[in-house]
Amino acid sequence: MRRVVVEGAELAVHVRGDGPALVFVHGFPFDHGLWRHQLTTFPGWRRIAPDLRGAGLSAAPAGGYSMARYADDVIAVLDALEVAAAAVCGLSMGGYIVFELLRRHRARVRAAILCDTRAEADTEEARRGRAEMIALARDEGAGARAIADRMIPSLLAPETRAERPEVEAQVREMIERTPVTGLVGALEAMRDRPDSTPLLAELKLPVLVLAGSADVMTTPEAGEALAGKIRGARFATVSGAGHLPPLEQPFVTTRLIADFLQSVL
Ligand code: MLT
Repeated sequence: MRRVVVEGAELAVHVRGDGPALVFVHGFPFDHGLWRHQLTTFPGWRRIAPDLRGAGLSAAPAGGYSMARYADDVIAVLDALEVAAAAVCGLSMGGYIVFELLRRHRARVRAAILCDTRAEADTEEARRGRAEMIALARDEGAGARAIADRMIPSLLAPETRAERPEVEAQVREMIERTPVTGLVGALEAMRDRPDSTPLLAELKLPVLVLAGSADVMTTPEAGEALAGKIRGARFATVSGAGHLPPLEQPFVTTRLIADFLQSVL
């Protein structure tokens, strides 16, 4: 693990392997552990998985969270590791950050993998949901545990919960180690994120959109529609996965990403 100083925070960055750079950006409320299988096995690539500010072993400042800030942090990590441009894979909130990278730092992204994510901004209803989650996270004593209890049923495919209890335990552990300032910061950043739909028609890079076949948070239909708005984008579903294919179906997810990267770069 490397420590990288970015503006106003120090980040924990997990780096494994050799080869061209492949950055994994986790979603909410997770950390690099979401990519534990891809960090361990993904031959031919230098895998870089930061804990975003407010997550995992990174510092959790009291405020200042936004998609732009997260994206600039990823760029600061690339700078620290002397990577000029990388393939970038983001899941859900990680996908929102990839959109921001493409808006702000397009030359640094060679190819994008968008997992279980969406380009649209929050609806009014979703914004009300963020306020509820912020109140839940701030609840003394319950905090991250309450967030875990609320989210886990919709994060994982029923099959994952029934057959692989260790995956649910890993997800719970990740959520529960997230500091409250990080939870609140990410919820505010997601609530305030811009609509990335206008960006989609402008994209001219290789893109793969992945979706868990049983994802109820960002459905496969939404993933397919997203791919349809990006010229040349490919779309694939990960069978037997919910919102977290890299943890729920690691081998298939790794293979889909590896085959895509091999074919386009
Ligand atoms: C995520 O998985 O990153 C979040 O659930 C995304 C969101 O809440 O919009």
